[in-house]
Amino acid sequence: MLIYAVKDYEELSRKAANIIAAQVILKPTTVLGLATGSTPVGAYQNLAEACTKGDLDFSQVSSANLDEYKGLSGDHDQSYRYFMNTNLFDHINIRKECTHVPNGLAEDAEAECARYDAVIESLGGVDLQLLGIGGNGYIGFNEPNDIFKKGTHCVTLTQETREANARFFETLDDVPTHAFTMGVGNIMAAKKVLLLASGAGKAQALYDSLFGPIDPKVPASILQLHPDVIIVADEAALTLIREKGLL
Ligand code: GLP
Repeated sequence: MLIYAVKDYEELSRKAANIIAAQVILKPTTVLGLATGSTPVGAYQNLAEACTKGDLDFSQVSSANLDEYKGLSGDHDQSYRYFMNTNLFDHINIRKECTHVPNGLAEDAEAECARYDAVIESLGGVDLQLLGIGGNGYIGFNEPNDIFKKGTHCVTLTQETREANARFFETLDDVPTHAFTMGVGNIMAAKKVLLLASGAGKAQALYDSLFGPIDPKVPASILQLHPDVIIVADEAALTLIREKGLL
């Protein structure tokens, strides 16, 4: 596990974009596993700028997003499809038909999960999986659980997660109660994982995930078993790890 300690969010965004850019340059047909949330937004902006300048070419890249709210259409401004279009895809030369996000409107949840796993398989798996981390150590929408779920599945969101994401909706009641998410197995199958953590609110989750026991109650802790993980974290997110003298 490689940990890059950076000063702040701006540096984190540049570093993350550089790592993703390096991946795309070295393998133009890269399959990117992409994430939403506020953490990757700065990295996406940097990637868009590099593409606009002509320094990066996404024309052969494919992508598969981690998750999507169940019940929201891709046009809904809080859907993750909409987030990806507006924060990244509309600003780079990726072919939209090569970008994949679970279908939030799928009626048959089980069939949608199987379809999404098959999409990932048909792409040949994910080369680089980008991850943010939830305050309780969740990744994608893999919430603390008694088991690690393997494939794409439909989850009931915890109250904590709904409250954390309520800032993007008009009221808490508007936050969907369910979501589709890649499973921990999908994430662990990625060849390389890039996890970003910014801000003091992530300090406990980051410490527990990287140095605590491997436990489905802290879903990101499974990453300790992945052979190729890069963490980019700012000093605020690293406070606990620094306090314990682990870095
Ligand atoms: C959402 C996404 C996660 C993301 C998390 C953290 O719930 N499903 O993939 O990691 O938010 O969000 P933020 O980066 O805003 O802290």
